[in-house]
Amino acid sequence: MKRVIIVLAAGQGTRMKSPRAKVLHPFMGRTILEHLLESLRTIHDGPLLVVVGHQANLVAPLLVPFKAVPILQEPQQGTGHALMACGPALSEIGPCEVLLVPGDAPLLPVPELDAFWNIFSAQGHPLALVALEMANPTGYGRILRNAAGAVEGIVEERDATQPQRSIREVNAGVYFFRSPDILGLLDELRTNNVQGEYYLTDVVAELGRSGRPAVAFPASAPDLYMGINSQEELALAIGRLRQSLTRSWMAAGVTILDPSTVWLEPGVRLEPGVLLHSGVHLCGETRLERNVEVRPYSVLRSCHIGEGTLVREHCVLEGTRCGPGCIIGPFCRTREGTVAGAGVHLGNFVETKKASLGDRVKANHLSYLGDATVGEGSNIGAGTITCNYDGVNKHPTVLGERVFVGSDTQFVAPVKVGDDAYIGAGTTVTKDVPALALAISRSPQKIVEGWAERKRARSRDRKPDHA
Ligand code: UD1
Ligand code: CA
Repeated sequence: MKRVIIVLAAGQGTRMKSPRAKVLHPFMGRTILEHLLESLRTIHDGPLLVVVGHQANLVAPLLVPFKAVPILQEPQQGTGHALMACGPALSEIGPCEVLLVPGDAPLLPVPELDAFWNIFSAQGHPLALVALEMANPTGYGRILRNAAGAVEGIVEERDATQPQRSIREVNAGVYFFRSPDILGLLDELRTNNVQGEYYLTDVVAELGRSGRPAVAFPASAPDLYMGINSQEELALAIGRLRQSLTRSWMAAGVTILDPSTVWLEPGVRLEPGVLLHSGVHLCGETRLERNVEVRPYSVLRSCHIGEGTLVREHCVLEGTRCGPGCIIGPFCRTREGTVAGAGVHLGNFVETKKASLGDRVKANHLSYLGDATVGEGSNIGAGTITCNYDGVNKHPTVLGERVFVGSDTQFVAPVKVGDDAYIGAGTTVTKDVPALALAISRSPQKIVEGWAERKRARSRDRKPDHA
């Protein structure tokens, strides 16, 4: 039978107490929902329906890269009502096996779900749910079983009696079912509960009454099924993901000196021998090759750093490719489109943007290199600025190989400098410089002998005598 995944993501998330819809909250570089969809796509390339409602205009665009189909639920009257909204889409697909998951559980262990799905397909039950054994079941629906142990129903915490609240076997909100067995039962749902909603969980009691009870698959790691309902649970879930990522990189030969302070997003790739100090953040698709060292409090986003490169303290590197063997920072900022070769040195307060730097280029202090190409072996003196913007357009600065740029030089782009040329300190380069030439623009220095002495004498004459 055809397989379909449904994600419920229409709720507001009242308990988050946030103007932002719950599934739009950040989750290690993406939103909660994107993280979940990415992970679901690793086990399923068939139809993926996402029920949207609250802030649907912001949620729906996130579905596009995952080829997921938005199903509008308006208004949002509960999880059962959310499945009702999928009715037309499901009848169009035809009889199918559905895996339904809540949109607020981004850590779901999808390999286990895949295994459960295969068990479900092989058995004849109309519905299987995932059961969690929780030391603290607060907030979850409790699973009710009869004397023979068969699943009889699910009672939400708010509707539960005191004895029911002590049940520690709870509902993960994850279900497998065959659409023909369940869609008809949705007509039986009522809103006679504390929240006045159509509970999907009530389907389980309907099945119990019909004599074809649901079955429960026990989760091997219940924590991974946690739903995020509050800001504190969001931080808890992020902490769990963060810890599992740092642990797996350590197991793969990466040295992380202070793992509780290090932030490695899921898209990061690290090679053995990488050394990360306290407070390092690696974001997006950042990749570090062997023996790269990143010192405290540096942040790298979407960078590819070549073997053996040292990134010193407090750098911010974005969209940068460099190495091997570069030395960057401290306090260096490289922006989108920075491509640096081998052995490049970029020191403190150097900013680069769309800059292509050949092997062994050095810019060690206080510079801005934007829309610039610098040939290999060139040296950029302190305080060098590419004046790349005329207020309307950006213009390129192109330096050849082994160019020596003296301190406090401005390149008024567009401008080109040939190989082996020298630029004298303090020069404003407005015209192209040929290879092997010296360019210098500096007003001649004037010496006025004894000037300071005369100035002092003048101010002595003017000052009242306090002595
Ligand atoms: C739900 C289950 C509960 C289970 C828990 C597991 C019900 C009634 N309760 O409770 O048994 O233990 O999940 O995490 O199903 N949603 C919609 N439309 C709506 C309402 C909700 O799409 O009208 C979505 C929400 O956006 C959310 C998911 O469904 O992603 C679950 O809703 P939520 O309110 O978080 O349910 P819980 O109270 O956690
Ligand atoms: Ca929830």
